[in-house]
Amino acid sequence: MLKLPTKPNPTSVNSSTAKTSDANINNAQKSVIVKLENVRKTYANGAVGLHDVNIKLYKGDFKFITGHSGSGKSTLLKLLYGAEQATDGDVIVNGFNLKGLKGNNLAMLRRKIGIVFQDYKLVPKRTVSENIAFVLMAQGYTYKEIQRRVQPALKMVGLMHKADCFPEELSGGEQQRTSIARAIVNTPPLVLADEPTGNLDPDNAWQVIKILKKLNSFGVTVLLTTHDEQLVRAANHPVLHLQNGYIV
Ligand SMILES: Nc1ncnc2c1ncn2[C@@H]1O[C@H](COP(=O)(O)OP(=O)(O)OP(=O)(O)O)[C@@H](O)[C@H]1O
Ligand SMILES: [Mg+2]
Repeated sequence: MLKLPTKPNPTSVNSSTAKTSDANINNAQKSVIVKLENVRKTYANGAVGLHDVNIKLYKGDFKFITGHSGSGKSTLLKLLYGAEQATDGDVIVNGFNLKGLKGNNLAMLRRKIGIVFQDYKLVPKRTVSENIAFVLMAQGYTYKEIQRRVQPALKMVGLMHKADCFPEELSGGEQQRTSIARAIVNTPPLVLADEPTGNLDPDNAWQVIKILKKLNSFGVTVLLTTHDEQLVRAANHPVLHLQNGYIV
């Protein structure tokens, strides 16, 4: 059974914050979940991450972002989850304009985005279940709700039998599947994955893609960066190609 670090605070998500955030959602863009308009990103040292990028993603899309190292793939995703701010232009995700978005509003947006990284970013001293549950605890879900959600997330990624293992006891593929379960346990409408298959062999990489495809079949929008052209061909989804910070 689930072993959680501590019993969480029973207070659930602050409903007044939720109302304010809902008001942000622009009904006119209901079916658009991600929009970049004339977005430029210049880093403090003058390096240009993106030049004048325009992108629209509709709810339910599954798109790859490809491009050589340094072409701006991670920069694009970072702008979407608010780890970086655009220098110019508008970045709109799930109805939020990220310009100047911070504090509670940024936290509310991030709750609606599942993020998967190449290096998994699991907490080594927590079991698989605890790594997944931790996200929900931090968001104030009740203990009962956490128990209700963790099992299906584990099942989705085929790791029910590894629930009580620690990350070091898992293969790379299993660690990545744990990180996907963590990303989706609060059922976000959007999953952003930055080179999620970068450290995996072809079989494990394909397992990850299959899980993301399944999520997409349930309506989750997926945006995923990769260098792996074979994988892109096999997965058969539209591709946005970046070259030196431009979409080409
Ligand atoms: N924090 C930063 N400070 C300064 N320059 C940065 C920073 N992050 C990225 N860059 C620069 O922005 C450009 C795009 O980098 P980005 O990380 O988005 O590329 P990428 O396509 O994800 O590459 P990779 O395939 O190697 O992960 C590069 O020229 C990079 O050096
Ligand atoms: Mg990158």
